[in-house]
Amino acid sequence: MSQDELKQQVALAALKYIKPLLQPDAIIGVGTGSTANFFIDALAELKHDFKGAVASSDATAERLRGHGIEVFDLNEVSQLAVYVDGADEANRKLELIKGGGAALTREKIVASVAKMFVCIADESKAVETLGAFPLPVEVIPMARSSVARAIVALGGNPVYRVGVVTDNGNILLDVHGLSITNAKEMEAKLNNIVGVVTNGLFAQRAADVLLLATLEGVKTLT
Ligand code: A5P
Repeated sequence: MSQDELKQQVALAALKYIKPLLQPDAIIGVGTGSTANFFIDALAELKHDFKGAVASSDATAERLRGHGIEVFDLNEVSQLAVYVDGADEANRKLELIKGGGAALTREKIVASVAKMFVCIADESKAVETLGAFPLPVEVIPMARSSVARAIVALGGNPVYRVGVVTDNGNILLDVHGLSITNAKEMEAKLNNIVGVVTNGLFAQRAADVLLLATLEGVKTLT
């Protein structure tokens, strides 16, 4: 089975998982990336069972609208029934690295107001220790060098993601060389650097459920 087939399989499993949470007035949060895209395409089938969605990126908003799903501004919404999104890495505590697709800040905001965060991934994303995937950090452009120096002082090797501007108009540093044994602490330390908007560690708000597509089927980890 190819990686795309695994992604599609887990997207369908997510649809089944969230179906009981859908009500006519429910608004759900939707993530960004190739796995999330499979989910969005599957979600179209249930579009009459819920009110609409909040998107974690412009690309996701466009895809949702393309399927006739209404997209709401988060400021119009007080709570989301569920948030469904992919990840670049997930450990056994369901702490994640996200942001490979540059949408980490909006993803973190949307996840923070969801009652439940369902993460969907194929088995290549499951790791013992977070950090082999370079950790994305969104930075205010004028602080690029000062933030990079502060990250080096924390033991990381920041690499500027050339040519990428986030939906918020900021730049990204991808931090290599971290072996993250205490994800909550690292998340807080990085967020404490002046000029950092946020980083791609989802530890203070980890996933509640990880649906993991494997060759033996989709596993549900809580
Ligand atoms: C987007 O910024 C990311 O957080 C994605 O959710 C993550 O990179 C997973 O993407 P794929 O589903 O494309 O692997």
